[in-house]
Amino acid sequence: MTDYGLADHTLAQNPAHLRQGSNIGQPNTRAEARLKVTGQARYAADHHPAGMLYAVLAVSQIAKGRVTALNLAAAKAHPGVIDVMTPAHKPALAQDPDDKQHPFVFRLDLLQNDRVRYANQPIAVVIAETLEAATEGAALLDPQYAAEPATTDIDRAEIFTPSHVGVGNPATLEHGDVKASLASSNLQITASYSTPAQYHNAMEPHAVVATWDGDNVSIETPSQGLAMAQARIAGLFGIPASGVHINSPYLGGGFGSKGLISSPQILGIMAARLVNRPVKLVVRREQMFGPVGHRGPTRQTLRLGADADGALTAIDHHTRAASSQFDDFFEPASGVSHSLYAAPAIATGYEAVRLDTGTPNFMRAPGEATGSAALESAIDELAEACGMDPLAFRLKNYAEIEPISGKPFSSKALRDCYAQGAERFGWARRPLAAGQLRDAVGMQVGWGMGTATFPALMFAAEARAVIRRDGTGLVEIGAQDMGQGAWTAFAQIAADSLGLEASAIELRAGHSDLPDAGIAGGSAHTATAGSAINQAGAALIGKLADLATNDPQSPLYGAGNTGVIARAGRLHRRDDETRSQAYGDILARAGRDALDATGQAAADPATQAAYALHAHGAVFAEVKIDPDLKQIRVTRLVGAFAAGRIINPRMVQSQYFGGMIWGVSFALHEQAVTDHRSGRLMNANYAEYAIPVNADIPSLEAILVEEHDPFVNALGIKGVGEIAITGTVGAIANAVWHATGQRVRDFPINLHRLISPG
Ligand code: MOS
Repeated sequence: MTDYGLADHTLAQNPAHLRQGSNIGQPNTRAEARLKVTGQARYAADHHPAGMLYAVLAVSQIAKGRVTALNLAAAKAHPGVIDVMTPAHKPALAQDPDDKQHPFVFRLDLLQNDRVRYANQPIAVVIAETLEAATEGAALLDPQYAAEPATTDIDRAEIFTPSHVGVGNPATLEHGDVKASLASSNLQITASYSTPAQYHNAMEPHAVVATWDGDNVSIETPSQGLAMAQARIAGLFGIPASGVHINSPYLGGGFGSKGLISSPQILGIMAARLVNRPVKLVVRREQMFGPVGHRGPTRQTLRLGADADGALTAIDHHTRAASSQFDDFFEPASGVSHSLYAAPAIATGYEAVRLDTGTPNFMRAPGEATGSAALESAIDELAEACGMDPLAFRLKNYAEIEPISGKPFSSKALRDCYAQGAERFGWARRPLAAGQLRDAVGMQVGWGMGTATFPALMFAAEARAVIRRDGTGLVEIGAQDMGQGAWTAFAQIAADSLGLEASAIELRAGHSDLPDAGIAGGSAHTATAGSAINQAGAALIGKLADLATNDPQSPLYGAGNTGVIARAGRLHRRDDETRSQAYGDILARAGRDALDATGQAAADPATQAAYALHAHGAVFAEVKIDPDLKQIRVTRLVGAFAAGRIINPRMVQSQYFGGMIWGVSFALHEQAVTDHRSGRLMNANYAEYAIPVNADIPSLEAILVEEHDPFVNALGIKGVGEIAITGTVGAIANAVWHATGQRVRDFPINLHRLISPG
């Protein structure tokens, strides 16, 4: 039995006082689980429309220069090859792929010229009757290059000050006098950390099946943001957005790389346009390492000061971040220091470099993952310097209000996270000094912890709700489920908002023809799309109540709109619940087959101005290290997270596990290795790009800490998708120190770094 630790399933904060339900808070299993485990869920690449051709990308083997020749004759002569798309032979585009209309439009590589800007950049697309023929055709292209020296080393590139980081975040911020505070501190530490480039590799690589019909195009492709993808495609091809129909019911993971449509996906659509037949293009695993985004590398320097009793006096968090030569996404790693610990002086800043790589982009907790890896390590180092227990040190520096803005938190149950996580882990038994613990077979044992944090964001969305004569409900929203269980959670929200059971709700989602649900990103999808669904349900029940209470034949006649409550498919009088009417009867009496309403959601500027909105957590890690071989194993991870109202504890627990597992990957395994002489990645495959397997993952525990947030949004929802990676990386790094006494400041922490420090 799993105790989800959730006592409250009510909708006390729900302004839609007409409704009452108990679906929210239940650990429903995935609505689409059976389809997935039986192979009936059809992912993009599972589609084979009649007459479909296969497209295969040819990608650059150099990192910088020009393509001087392609052997088109050889490729085209191969049996089955239909055409080869090149810069000289491609459909006209209505927009320059290098135009940046707004910050959320990333520049693309769509064969616009013969330039190569990074290794693995698409340079041609071979289209053939079979996958084998297209693959062989691509091999026969035998590209010739005029290579130029590439810059791929973040430590050897020219430095400049970026105008902004992330998407529009300021690059410098200073609160208080950091220099003076550090100078007058009792204790000071300066520590520099490095994080490597990590490459997006969801189980499902980016794939597209495109079918044109005149100026209409039907597209099977995984997308975390259907409306933005639709607009980007419409703009590039010069067609109305209403002509772009994207179907994206299942994603084999997204993690940010499917947030904005990528170059290979557009190339597949271009290929279909070129040959005027349906075309499928699937990115090969090794081609994922370039054109679909990655987590950019960072170099971070933390300068922290503390007074004699362990109170922080200053935090200075400086990051060097890297973008490509042709677009601007600088990993906003310093931002995490804005809100996590109370310090009278806080400064964050950046320096930037440009590398001959694909453009980095969003990767699960972009900024917070890298930034908290460094900050949580540095906090541990300062606690050690102060001779304090790391948890006691964090409690000493607990931010009661958001430090820089001075705003109160809309809710913050971080103390409960610390307490419940520490209790479960057994933290009180931890010796203060490093190198004290050994297990029965002589392994060095270390215990470390880290604080987790992620902003509670919201975007704009709309939804449509319908109640039908048969008493069932329908909710339409162009929402995306990239595996997180969104559809399951949305059905639960819809059920409570419509006063129905989840099983009586049909949820239509995952298609761009449906109302715009915003992006499944920023851990904001449940709050955003869920709020729109909730509002649509409220509006619809209000309309239904109007029908019933104005109908002299209804048992609810005269009760008034607010005098009824919706439950189990019926409206009931509040003052006499025995008097009720079924939805179907209300509609029949009104001569209606169905009734519908729309709902909207958006971040509320007044709430954002008044409150600091963040989820929090605490992660406790145990590592065991072989004293001779220096092999590192994480043996226990306990996370405790507070993220407002939990819609579905089973799905949320799974999100926390996923984040913690990525934390293990970040801390110990994952890194792209580049040969800086050629600018090419040396481990662009699943064999050498190390990620944890089952044997690397300990038993995980995620405690869902209760947190009521009356302000963040009507349902009290914060996000859960990204937070768990943020505490875990630092916790593991700190556990490695506690086991060995060695501070490894370069990620991933591996046996090489323990054997030959520095
Ligand atoms: Mo996430 S990196 O916002 O998909």
